[in-house]
Amino acid sequence: MSKCIVIGGAGFIGCNTVHRFMQRGYEVVAVDNLSRTGGDANLAWLQSQGPLTFVRADIRDAGAMTRLLDEHGDADTVLHLAGQVAVTTSVRNPREDFEINALGTLNILEAIRLSGRRPLLMYASTNKVYGGMDDVAIEKQASRYAYRDYPLGIAETAPLDFHSPYGCSKGAADQYIHDYHRIYGLPTVVFRQSCIYGYRQFGVEDQGWVAWFVIAALLGRDITICGDGKQVRDVLFIDDLTELYAAAAQQPGKVAGKVFNIGGGPAFTMSVWAEFGPLLEEQIGKRIPVTYADWRPGDQPVYISDIRKITAELGWKPATSVREGVAKLVEWVRVNKGLFE
Ligand SMILES: NC(=O)c1ccc[n+]([C@@H]2O[C@H](COP(=O)([O-])OP(=O)(O)OC[C@H]3O[C@@H](n4cnc5c(N)ncnc54)[C@H](O)[C@@H]3O)[C@@H](O)[C@H]2O)c1
Repeated sequence: MSKCIVIGGAGFIGCNTVHRFMQRGYEVVAVDNLSRTGGDANLAWLQSQGPLTFVRADIRDAGAMTRLLDEHGDADTVLHLAGQVAVTTSVRNPREDFEINALGTLNILEAIRLSGRRPLLMYASTNKVYGGMDDVAIEKQASRYAYRDYPLGIAETAPLDFHSPYGCSKGAADQYIHDYHRIYGLPTVVFRQSCIYGYRQFGVEDQGWVAWFVIAALLGRDITICGDGKQVRDVLFIDDLTELYAAAAQQPGKVAGKVFNIGGGPAFTMSVWAEFGPLLEEQIGKRIPVTYADWRPGDQPVYISDIRKITAELGWKPATSVREGVAKLVEWVRVNKGLFE
């Protein structure tokens, strides 16, 4: 039986990934420090789905990562999805952000390197490593911003420009993961992910905006839009992302040593409120009042991933339309409202 370690396994992406690998017949080890709200609920749900080994550990603890790899060094795949995930939190506490995202990642890399084993290590990086992309020409349209010159989105060759402590810590981790392939020959892959949304996402105001707006709208909480709401993102439904991870785990030779931009791509985009708002109002059947505030530091007016490289390598591309994905998320939050009260 193949074995997989999912670090950050009680988080939004983590628990959905653990579930996908369990369904595929993997022996799964989920690792998390349960610091994120919703982690306990996600873990309890996973444990109701089938046999699972759970290790409560903190990636800042190098010894704990070494012990993890000692005990589960027979894993074929390691997914590193643990992290401090909010830009705003990173601005408030840059040291903690660095210790979790940068040092924590180094701890995982070192634990693998020193174990002498060579599992495929997948890392969830972010499009934030490209910064604000201020010199990319943008056009303002009625309900959205658009690239003037990049109809297919931003490719992996775009210059790195770490902006905000979160951008710096994730960017450092992204580069370490890539470099451990060059220097030590570890089979690592970096996925620079755009906005991911879906079930079991405990979105809050400053992270996980699609889920946050759905939760806030259904529970009658105040919604603040930073900027004018016309910022555009490509959005990827969680099932499509976990399908990608599963495909990569099956074909490590095709992804090892590489960096890929991952998102909904040009086919699956929406603007943060000017387009998402009306769609959400239609799906929940009521008007949603919002207030507007200043732009966030480093916020890109448009970000759309060019996903041709991963499609060429693995044949993967997203399948869930924005309308379908949002409907699934709305339904999940409706049924699980109690988790958010
Ligand atoms: N959700 C997105 O849209 C998105 C986009 C790009 C990149 N990412 C990256 O994907 C990864 C997963 O994101 P998510 O949305 O599932 O976030 P999440 O907060 O739901 O999951 C992160 C998990 O990591 C755990 N964690 C945090 N600090 C830890 C530590 N020190 N030791 C052990 N566990 C720790 C948390 O408890 C949580 O369960 C993150 O690295 C994030 O930066 C997410």
